[in-house]
Amino acid sequence: MQTAVITGTSSGLGRGVAQRLHSLGWDVLGTVLDRADEDTLPWATVVLDVTDDDAVAALGLVVQERWGHLDALVNNAGYAMGGPWEELTPGEIRRQLDVNLVGAMAVTSVCLPALRAAQGVVVNVSSVSGQAGDPLMGPYNASKFGLEGASEALRAEVRPFGVRVVLVEPGPFRTPISRTSPQAAGKDPDGVYAEQWRAVDDWLAWHAAASADPQACVDAIVGAVTRDDAPFRIPVGEGIADVVRKHAAALVRQADAAEEFLRSL
Ligand SMILES: NC(=O)c1ccc[n+]([C@@H]2O[C@H](COP(=O)([O-])OP(=O)(O)OC[C@H]3O[C@@H](n4cnc5c(N)ncnc54)[C@H](OP(=O)(O)O)[C@@H]3O)[C@@H](O)[C@H]2O)c1
Repeated sequence: MQTAVITGTSSGLGRGVAQRLHSLGWDVLGTVLDRADEDTLPWATVVLDVTDDDAVAALGLVVQERWGHLDALVNNAGYAMGGPWEELTPGEIRRQLDVNLVGAMAVTSVCLPALRAAQGVVVNVSSVSGQAGDPLMGPYNASKFGLEGASEALRAEVRPFGVRVVLVEPGPFRTPISRTSPQAAGKDPDGVYAEQWRAVDDWLAWHAAASADPQACVDAIVGAVTRDDAPFRIPVGEGIADVVRKHAAALVRQADAAEEFLRSL
């Protein structure tokens, strides 16, 4: 039986991926933040806050003792934090990076011995926000850009051991993320960033009401787990591959402009 650890399986994409792999006969260990969710899910669960170093170390021991090998790790747990850079507290920024970036790296680290033993796959759930920055999304952008860079490094590190690494980059999908996303505590609706805050609020309302059925994204993550031929990056969602293409083209233009500028010095 194939084995998978999936973080954040109480809701949204993580829940959908756990459901699918469980129904395909995989032995799934899903993490939940809230103990109350443990008894409600049909797959095996473990309570885990990815920012709790002791709990992450304990997860590594559970994986070793339970299986000793691991076919798939899906780093899905995360949340989206918004706010103008000027108004963010260091604590808000740290928490966002801690959950979305350090948490995913720490969980991967304790699972790698078992992943190497199985020549498994690490699927990191990034975001289109890991490819292109948006106003007032700095903390979330930073966490997902970080995850992208770390995944490129990991991919090269573990390729010699036969371990695959895949980044899934979703656009907006209708999950509780828009309901639960905290915004900067110091938010001043009448301050200098009022207009941009309104744009974020409108976007969150639109995301909650109109964003896409998460099933397509669940399919992409499950495909990244089960298909050896999955590409390293999988932008998913309507128009998301084009966002990535446009950003890549902008990077090329910026490199050209930099060369010209440096020649002019
Ligand atoms: N939905 C989208 O439009 C979208 C777009 C791009 C990327 N993503 C990414 O997709 C992933 C899943 O998000 P989702 O949309 O499915 O949202 P979601 O339904 O809110 O799921 C997030 C999951 O992460 C868990 N979690 C949050 N903080 C955690 C922590 N400190 N330790 C452990 N678990 C934690 C949550 O647990 P609780 O429910 O108990 O809080 C929940 O199970 C995230 O990484 C997100 O950035 C989503």
